[in-house]
Parts: sequence; C-alpha cells; structure tokens
Amino acid sequence: MTVKKTNTFPAFLNKESRSIVKGEGVYLFDDQGKRYIDASGGPIMSNLGHGLKEMAETLYNQALKNEYVFYMDFTTPELEAACTGICEASGGDMDRVFLVSGGSEATEASIKLARKYHIDAGNPSKFKIISRWMSYHGMTQGAMNLSGFPFRRRDYTPYISNNYHIPPAYCYRCWYNKTPETCNLECANALETEILCQGPESVAGFIAEPISGMSLCGATPRPDYFKRVREICDKHDVLLIMDEVMTGFGRCGKFFAYEHFETPPDIMALGKGLAGGYFPAGATVSNSRVFDMIANNSGLFISVHTWAGNPMLAAMINKTMDYLEEHQLIQRSAEMGEYLARQLENLRSHPTIGDIRGQGLMRGIEFVKDKETKETLPPENMFWLVLNELAQDMGLVIDCSSGCDRGQAGDQLMFGPPFTVTEAEIDEMVEIFDRVLTQAEKQVGF
Ligand SMILES: Cc1ncc(COP(=O)(O)O)c(C=O)c1O
Repeated sequence: MTVKKTNTFPAFLNKESRSIVKGEGVYLFDDQGKRYIDASGGPIMSNLGHGLKEMAETLYNQALKNEYVFYMDFTTPELEAACTGICEASGGDMDRVFLVSGGSEATEASIKLARKYHIDAGNPSKFKIISRWMSYHGMTQGAMNLSGFPFRRRDYTPYISNNYHIPPAYCYRCWYNKTPETCNLECANALETEILCQGPESVAGFIAEPISGMSLCGATPRPDYFKRVREICDKHDVLLIMDEVMTGFGRCGKFFAYEHFETPPDIMALGKGLAGGYFPAGATVSNSRVFDMIANNSGLFISVHTWAGNPMLAAMINKTMDYLEEHQLIQRSAEMGEYLARQLENLRSHPTIGDIRGQGLMRGIEFVKDKETKETLPPENMFWLVLNELAQDMGLVIDCSSGCDRGQAGDQLMFGPPFTVTEAEIDEMVEIFDRVLTQAEKQVGF
C-alpha cells in the first residue's frame, strides 16, 4: 500500500490504514464499502458487537443526566450500582471496585493497592511485584515493568525498574521441558524460589493473567496451577493479583477466568470489554481483606486519576452487565467458544498450525515451521504480519502477534469475536481464515 498524507500517528508508520466508517454486529465497513468480519474486536475488546443502539442511548442519556463528577468529591448512583454489580458477579469473592480508564491504569493501581496493603499491615519493606515472562500487563511505565513481553518492552528497557519474572505456564513450549505426564508444576513452584531469593520480606504481590493474552495467545495453565500459586502466596504473605483485563467479564466462558481455577485473587484488574467495548474502561477490584486492612489503618488510598469512578463509565458497565444477563451471553461465550474451537481444529492439517488453545471466546493459534520439532518460522518472514494483512485484504479482522518463543520468534494470533456471534458467522470467519492461511503459507514457501 502507498502512503498518503495523514496526521495520525499509527503503530506502523509507513502503512496506510483502511478507514472504518460503520460497525454492525460482527461486521465493520470501510469508506470504500468493503465489509470485514470482526473475529477479534481489534485487541479482544468488543464483547457485545458493534452498533448497539441501547449502548449508544445509555451513553447519550448519561451525558445529559450527569456526565462527570470527581470521585474524590462525590459518589453517584451509577458508580454504586457498577461496583456492586461487579462484586456480586464475583459471588462475594471481591468486595471493592476502583474504576479507571483502561487496563494499564488498572494494573498500575493494583500494584499501588498491594503496596498500600503491606504498608498498612506494618510491613513497609514489602514492595516487589513478581510477574511472569511472556506476560502482558500494559504499556504505561508501571505496567510495562510487570509485562514480560519482550517485543513490547524491548525499546524501553532502560526505564524498567521492577523486574522480577518467573517462567510462564506455557505447556506447549514448557520452559522445563516437561510433558503433562512428567509435569510437577515447576512453573508454579518457581514463584517460591523467586520469593525466597528476593527475600519474602520484600515481596508484596504476584501478578498473572489467568489465561494468557497476546503474549502467549490463550496459553492455559494446568487446572491446579493457581491453587499451588495461592499456597505459595499465602505462605509468604504475598498478595495474589490476577490480570483479567482480557479474560474477565465473560470472555473465557465464565464471568471471571479465575473461576476456571477455583482460585479467587486478592486483587483483580479489569479492562477492555468491561463497558461492552463502548467506553474506555478499567477497574481495580479487591477483596475485603485488602480493603479492610487499609480502611482500618491509614484509611487512605491515593491513586488519583481525573476519570476515576466517572458516571459515564459506570453507566456503561451497568448497561453491559444488564445486556450480558438479558441475552445470557456468558453462557453463550462458553458455547460458541466450544464451537469455534471445534471449527479451528478442522484446520489442524495446515502445515503451520502447531497449537490451538484457549477458553471460551478467546482462542489462540501458534504457528510453527515444523510440527514435530516446534521450530518457529523464521522471524524475518514476519508471518504474523503477513497473516494480518492478508486477512484484512480478504475481509477478516484477527489479532496477530509474535515472539512467543522467548521473545525471539514465534507467530500467533487470537480469535475473540463478540459473545453475540452466531455459528454461521464463526463458519464464515474460519472459512476466510482457512484461505488466508493457505495463501500466507504459500507466500513463505510451503
Ligand atoms: C492482559 C492485559 N493486561 C493489561 C492490558 C493493558 O490494557 P490497556 O491497553 O487498556 O491499557 C492488556 C491490553 O491488551 C491486556 O491484554
């Protein structure tokens, strides 16, 4: 594509972006009248689908009623309802909610909350947050410190300070060369090793995505992984923080992905589809243990953001929760997720498909050059970008990424359509993707 004059600052500076002028359900339409089926809601964001009139009306009505008050001065009925709704959805596991404007803000506030808990508990030496390699927690400074996604943080390493990472729960390419038969949860036990080496008196929390987002596209730990993690955290007075920015609010077929592991966290970060995909959204959620410790001591949590707790976001979260319930969309995410997984399995015979993984409507594929050895495709092929571009040419939107093999190579992608997706629409996505992959494989010499 040729570059035309634009004043936007895109990620790929020398590539022209298509201009989308309308969205409806799972479809997007560009200014040339071309239709795209949106199989990922961009970066797994659009949980309810595009162009919903009732979401637009909610935004309009709330703006007329009360577009903004500052959370340090006031609460609102909308904020109260949203926070109660989120805690009720957790079945009482979680107790308090701090609304912010995105996933990175939510993970950053989670760090501060963990730190504040320990200060108020009389353990001010606890400040380190351990995270995992091949994880993603956002691009702002604090969140980037936690992220173990080399591709996204490499340029900024001089700014990285909190840097305590353990191996990921990544069964397809286990860093301990284990198989399911020989696995002894080495990747979970590595947390205890790291806590001990750092000194338990210095460690405040451990953060992990329950099911990996774009750094490992759907990698899912063994069912007992988080139970072991929880044991280790409790033993060393380390808070368990789950990053549910991508996985939460039904994306993985349950309201929160931690339910798959029967292990509620102490602190949880939410974002992305929290407001259905219609408003910038994030939340830091805590259990009563964390809240009460602070309430009963300093009584002060300072993580001031101008848009924190704003009523527009709260109203959109409330409408999203109503919509999820009215249309039974969490159950639908589980059912359609199973259907999507079965359809993707039909593509296994493609020479490059190494692994298909994930839960609910968050399904990832990892590509390889050799299925036996799991050798990656040469990084210079930029297979992930080839896929991304061919997909757009053929009218499909999917989220592609690279670097799953220790940040050096490894192409992957994620399907994450709206929960309203039908079987026929999934068939259409998979049929186009089949053609995209055939063409991409030809392009790199298969
Ligand atoms: C798991 C996870 N955490 C945090 C973030 C950061 O969210 P945001 O891009 O809204 O800042 C993302 C975004 O992709 C994510 O997937």
